[in-house]
Amino acid sequence: MANAIFVLNGPNLNLLGTREPEVYGTETLEDLHARCDRKAHELGFVVDFRQSNAEGELVNWIQEARTDASGLIVNAGAFTHTSIAMLDALLACPVPIVEVHLSNIFTREPFRHRSYISQAAKGVICGFGGLGYELAIEALAAAISRAKAG
Ligand code: DQA
Repeated sequence: MANAIFVLNGPNLNLLGTREPEVYGTETLEDLHARCDRKAHELGFVVDFRQSNAEGELVNWIQEARTDASGLIVNAGAFTHTSIAMLDALLACPVPIVEVHLSNIFTREPFRHRSYISQAAKGVICGFGGLGYELAIEALAAAISRAKAG
């Protein structure tokens, strides 16, 4: 769909607000949704914001983005560090992709330093909490209009 940006959130992100607030902050997933709606609207885009704890569902949504989105933002949660299936789906997705993490994964446990999905992303934003989602929308909007301009 023209001007649709999919924002896909992975496991445990439904618990934002109460989940380890010292790491992830106190904003809820709904707060992040509202931030994305606002920023996308400002830039002439519409956001389709989703969350799932199931890897297969996230893969299906990435496949849907191949035809129905003009850009994709992914916070894959812990699947970031494990999911070749998500990487393969993202590699098959022709639209620009931005990987987002609320926390700075590079200052945390070593197993979080490795992302399987970064390889498919145009860029990665981490460590800025909810603001990262807005920055990702700005980056995507710029990439999409560059691509349109040829
Ligand atoms: C996260 C970082 C991941 O390591 C973790 O498993 C998450 C959230 C983040 O947004 O900081 O669930 O993606």
